[in-house]
Amino acid sequence: MLEFPKKFWWGAATSGPQSEGRFDKKHANMFDYWYEIEPEVFYKQQGPDTASNFYNSYKKDIQLMKECGLNSVRTSIQWTRLIDDLETNTVNSEAVDFYNRVIDEFIAQGIEPIINLHHFDLPVELYHKYGGWESKHVVDLFVGFATQCFKHFGDRVKYWFTHNEPMVVVEGEYLYEFHYPKIVDGKKAVQVAYNLQLASSKAIEAFRTSGFKESQIGIILNLTPLYPATEESADLLASHQADLWINRFFMDASVKGQFPTELVAMLQKEDALWSYTDEELAIIAENTVDQLGINFYHPHRVERPEFSPNSLAVDFMPNKYWKDYEMPGRRMNVDKGWEIYPKALYDIAKDIQENYGNISWFVSENGMGVSNEERYLVDGRIEDDYRIQFISEHLYWLNQAIQEGANCHGYHLWTPIDCWSWMNAYRNRYGLISTNIHTQVKTIKKSGYWFKELSETGQLDFSLEE
Ligand code: BG6
Repeated sequence: MLEFPKKFWWGAATSGPQSEGRFDKKHANMFDYWYEIEPEVFYKQQGPDTASNFYNSYKKDIQLMKECGLNSVRTSIQWTRLIDDLETNTVNSEAVDFYNRVIDEFIAQGIEPIINLHHFDLPVELYHKYGGWESKHVVDLFVGFATQCFKHFGDRVKYWFTHNEPMVVVEGEYLYEFHYPKIVDGKKAVQVAYNLQLASSKAIEAFRTSGFKESQIGIILNLTPLYPATEESADLLASHQADLWINRFFMDASVKGQFPTELVAMLQKEDALWSYTDEELAIIAENTVDQLGINFYHPHRVERPEFSPNSLAVDFMPNKYWKDYEMPGRRMNVDKGWEIYPKALYDIAKDIQENYGNISWFVSENGMGVSNEERYLVDGRIEDDYRIQFISEHLYWLNQAIQEGANCHGYHLWTPIDCWSWMNAYRNRYGLISTNIHTQVKTIKKSGYWFKELSETGQLDFSLEE
């Protein structure tokens, strides 16, 4: 029997733009806008307008979450909902009322609300006017929005996070073309990454000066542990360099207050270093996180690049230092196209224990996206044994690490209720609770009942098959 710590966060994560719907929202975010101009890029042309209707059904939804035994839930406050005037950061009173009601309802149901501030949902006006995260003015506007959140909700929200997966913003918007505006520009990507870190550190500074002594603030990072294709030095080097950019950029800056020196040297050599001031670096150094949320879905395997990184290229791209590698025989979630490798969670935990001062952290997302889940409907309930297996295997490795001293205080599944997911819209279902997107009827899946027992007992009867 696997035993988990007594005060463990057993929960699940969603975000404002993916659950609430656009009802009564004054501004459009990047995805709202993208859907307006190019609906065909979204799976079955399903957009964010209704999402899972949380704006209207939050009471019932929170009740269902409670029935799944969740003792903590993460969502995010939408910048595009809370703020009326994006330049002066005045708040919208209906939005303040809405988030107050949501937070109060979570607390009334005995669920700890964990609030994140930015989940890929920059107001599109700030992109059109200033280039979005390319601009340091936008960094300051974000800090203004964050300050309003602390002011209005900080009396009840004890756990705050600045960004969700900032590296996905960098990769999607500035490198690999999977988020609007699909720019391909390595140098801009580097500046955006730096500005996102600066925004996080400045928001943390604002939080600390607001004087919430009993509360904590952190950042949510998606880590994809690197595994080299072979133990040969060229593959090891490729893996190391990928790791520096993909994982350590935000980890080091957020936890240690400094960017990895090797990465800085590489960017200098490429003439691609971000523009900065000493004052900004001091803010980053002084405002490290209280705790981390780690999203883990899949490992990242790489091999040496096809061409030497010293080849002549006009444009710098960070991924010229490695080549993605598909390990033969790897285990896959075929629906989503991601490798399943639960032991990576143990590797992450050891890395945090050994290289990041064993800082307090929790698994802020993990989960299994499955398409066409109706095929597993039995008597009106989705029998998602594969999800129970997936979670169990990850918890097995997490438990090993905790027994060895890892400072992990929770496990949050993505997601409580099937929600809308960017370009994939409703293709991959991850929830403990299913959503019928035509009727908005929500039904607890088998995994939801199983999770309740897990959360109530803090025990898991599971061993790995050899
Ligand atoms: C995570 C994001 O990386 O992946 C979520 O934080 C997202 O916002 C989730 O919904 C699942 O993504 P997808 O594309 O498989 O539905």
